[in-house]
Amino acid sequence: MTMPSPQASGNSYTFDGTASARDRRPVGIALLGYGTVGSEVLRLLKSNEETLEHRIEGPIELKGVAVSDASKPRTGVDPELVTEDAMGLILRDDVDVVVEVIGGIEYPRKLVLAALEAGKSVVTANKALVAAHADELARAADEHGVDLYYEAAVAAAIPVVGMLRRSLAGDQIQRVSGIVNGTTNFILDAMDSTGAEYSETLAEATELGYAEADPTADVEGHDAASKAAILASMAFHSRVKFADVSCEGITQITAEDIEAAKEAGYTIKLLAICEKIVDASGQPAVSARVHPALVSREHPLASVSGSYNAVFVEAEAAGNLMFYGNGAGGAPTASAVLGDVVGAARNKYLGGRAPKDLTYAQLPLAQFGDVPTRYHIDLRVHDRVGVLADLAATCASRGISLKAVRQEEDYEVNGHRAARLILVTHTAREQDLADFVANLVESDDVLEVSSVIRLAD
Ligand code: NDP
Ligand code: HSE
Repeated sequence: MTMPSPQASGNSYTFDGTASARDRRPVGIALLGYGTVGSEVLRLLKSNEETLEHRIEGPIELKGVAVSDASKPRTGVDPELVTEDAMGLILRDDVDVVVEVIGGIEYPRKLVLAALEAGKSVVTANKALVAAHADELARAADEHGVDLYYEAAVAAAIPVVGMLRRSLAGDQIQRVSGIVNGTTNFILDAMDSTGAEYSETLAEATELGYAEADPTADVEGHDAASKAAILASMAFHSRVKFADVSCEGITQITAEDIEAAKEAGYTIKLLAICEKIVDASGQPAVSARVHPALVSREHPLASVSGSYNAVFVEAEAAGNLMFYGNGAGGAPTASAVLGDVVGAARNKYLGGRAPKDLTYAQLPLAQFGDVPTRYHIDLRVHDRVGVLADLAATCASRGISLKAVRQEEDYEVNGHRAARLILVTHTAREQDLADFVANLVESDDVLEVSSVIRLAD
């Protein structure tokens, strides 16, 4: 077999291959965005050009690259391919597949809808867009018989979308959970190993290309919540949107919390948890939530370092599966984007379709208050007789069972002799635990509730 040789075609890159492939009109690609991800997509598109054509079974051709400012100096792209007119590029007759790596919601939504309605398949890495508008986009793709791919939108290089859409399509999934944001994992890991505050490490994560254009989306948990919405929708065949996900970020986590966790044998991770639960009325419901959690240092998640991600899937027949790898950064994300480009371009030639978003189950959303969880509570109480008895009575009145109580003496809070109490609860309803903490805050015995962090299972 002879290897194909790339040929220049006007201002486009052509992937020329076998005789039969050469007879076909190349699948035209429009790349929207040339930032951290887009520039890596084009680098890989060029460096892998020989093999891509074999995998696609036909040639592809880059028709243009849309950016916000075409006058910026750029490496790795022919300046004549660069345009500020993204819509004009999408609507060209010779564009068949649109790759959206701009980010944001409203503007890319307009572009992606226009592309789908014009009969072009779309590949996007944009989890915020998919988590907010998946129904509308999937409907447009269906109506126009084209593909909507978004493997890179969740955990970048880790193929979780394909795994849920295809590989586990014959199974029943009970739970999908894990670390799905590289920036916050990088920050928490650095805080754990150096004792630094989170703001000190955020700049480094941004510089390395992990953080979103506005890193608030990462540290407030919104990026992970978008991914949780996508995972829950696929796992439970029910539409879950970003706004449906209960979300707490890492901005309240202090170096002191990390130190206290360490002393107790834990590390703190930002977890996304998607599960099917039985709600207060006894019916199955979907819960999707994101929050920091204490993870035992012996748990495999504790060793997920830097910007790495890890996703656990608990399925009825397959059992427990764990996926680990690069969850952020230009090249890992571009790898997932290109995998989708291969799928979309192959379908243009061979007539197949990408697996669809199926939401036939339409399970209701669980109330966050009904979700089963465990709390680790660190508080300062008056060091006097009767405090533990009062505490036990408060627990009993709320139906909260304590798994462990640890007491340390010789503290002082605002001139009062204090003891430090660490309470670890058994599993209870989120709302009952939250009410219990509210009771503690109001109690005369309690001087201060220093931290409340959920415990990972
Ligand atoms: P960047 O901010 O690095 O790049 C954005 C690109 O979009 C830039 O080239 C910018 O142009 C261009 N752009 C912005 N506005 C417009 C516009 N109005 N018209 C045309 N082009 C525009 O973002 P990333 O590459 O980091 O992220 C892109 C997408 O990929 C996002 O949806 C993100 O969530 C997702 N993603 C990112 C990952 C990562 O690790 N970075 C991982 C997984 C997904 P210009 O160059 O002129 O500024
Ligand atoms: N900002 C995201 C992260 C990029 O840190 O995980 C990958 O989606």
